[in-house]
Amino acid sequence: MKCPSNFVLIKEGKASICVPNPELYKRSDGVYEPSWAPVFYNPLMIENRDISIALLNALVVGGFSVKNVVDSMTSSGVRGIRIALEVNDVDCVYMCDIDEEAVKIASLNVEINGVRNKAIVERADCRELLYRLKRERARLDYVDVDPFGSPAPFMQAALECVRHGGVVGVTATDLAPLEGKYPRKLFRRYGIMGTMCGISKDIAVRNLISFMARIAAMIDRTIEPLYSYHYKHYVRVYVRVKKGKSASYEMLSRCIGTISYCNYCGYWEIGKEPNMKCPVCGRPTINVEGTWICKIGSANLAKIVASIVKEQNHFSSKTLEIVECIASYLGVGNVLPYRISFIARLLKKNMPKIHDIVSHLRRLGYKACRVLGYHDAIATNAPMNEVIKIVSSLSSS
Ligand SMILES: C[S@@+](CC[C@H](N)C(=O)[O-])C[C@H]1O[C@@H](n2cnc3c(N)ncnc32)[C@H](O)[C@@H]1O
Ligand SMILES: [Zn+2]
Repeated sequence: MKCPSNFVLIKEGKASICVPNPELYKRSDGVYEPSWAPVFYNPLMIENRDISIALLNALVVGGFSVKNVVDSMTSSGVRGIRIALEVNDVDCVYMCDIDEEAVKIASLNVEINGVRNKAIVERADCRELLYRLKRERARLDYVDVDPFGSPAPFMQAALECVRHGGVVGVTATDLAPLEGKYPRKLFRRYGIMGTMCGISKDIAVRNLISFMARIAAMIDRTIEPLYSYHYKHYVRVYVRVKKGKSASYEMLSRCIGTISYCNYCGYWEIGKEPNMKCPVCGRPTINVEGTWICKIGSANLAKIVASIVKEQNHFSSKTLEIVECIASYLGVGNVLPYRISFIARLLKKNMPKIHDIVSHLRRLGYKACRVLGYHDAIATNAPMNEVIKIVSSLSSS
């Protein structure tokens, strides 16, 4: 089977996929612009898809049944087809896109990969498909939501139509609003009061989880974050969804709260009430109210994901780097990063090597690691004054 003209065959994971010829959709600076192509395929999201495969397999290892999957915004079909080919246990992948061209290519790609017995491609608004499957009592184990920009308009359908105990995976590429770059948009779209700060990519992850929790609670469901991270221009969150009226109230009262952050020294606090004054340097803090303050994932699951990626050689080395970083971060506990350059500024000293700080903290018995997204940040369960002491002792002047 051949790709149509203006398409080329690429390999991603175990799948062979016809995608728009990237040479035809390049900006004047030579960079491929996937949104210009007739069907969206972004090679920069390979790690995102790799991780979804490894994560579903990690869930299967833990006894989770992932028979029925919805790839609700499938575009070229790459994610759904990879799930059909690479995730043990899958019986049926419903692949949906609202765009006619995408559905044509996804159907061709299903044929090319010989997964017609497992994959059903349909043109629809994914909310229509999800509610129809719910009405037909399909038991949906996993729903993937991967839109352009904000996933907010699709959240209720995904959370409502996945089965009790099922998993929803969501990408949000509207990182700037989620981070609080446009506070009014953050409030309007996600119901959170906040603004950008030194660790706002990490807060963006929590803002998305908070939004998912509040939508879930509205329909008498709870969410349990299984695996969350930010990378490049997006946030990705996986949650387990369960039914439960009082549990959903309990989730909101326990897990929705405030992050206070000092944009001068990098002090952070996760709590129920804002702390308006930084206890380290005395400056006023930035407060993000209505965000998620509980755990953002399972350290155990993250370890299994990392070991799966390590064992199997069809994942990229970048994916391994990312999942190992996420596993260390989630292993530290319910924390936020410290920006070491902020601490160096407070101390008026040079910034020591991140590696040296991490090693020093570990020697003292603390957990510590680098984090994604900031070259100068670490995560640790050590108190901030300990980090300040170490930065001070390691920096020259
Ligand atoms: C970012 S792309 C998805 C990428 C794909 N999941 C992947 O991994 O390559 C978003 C897709 O969602 C489709 N879309 C937008 N609104 C939709 C809706 N309401 N229902 C279903 N598909 C939709 C678009 O046509 C587009 O193909
Ligand atoms: Zn401060």
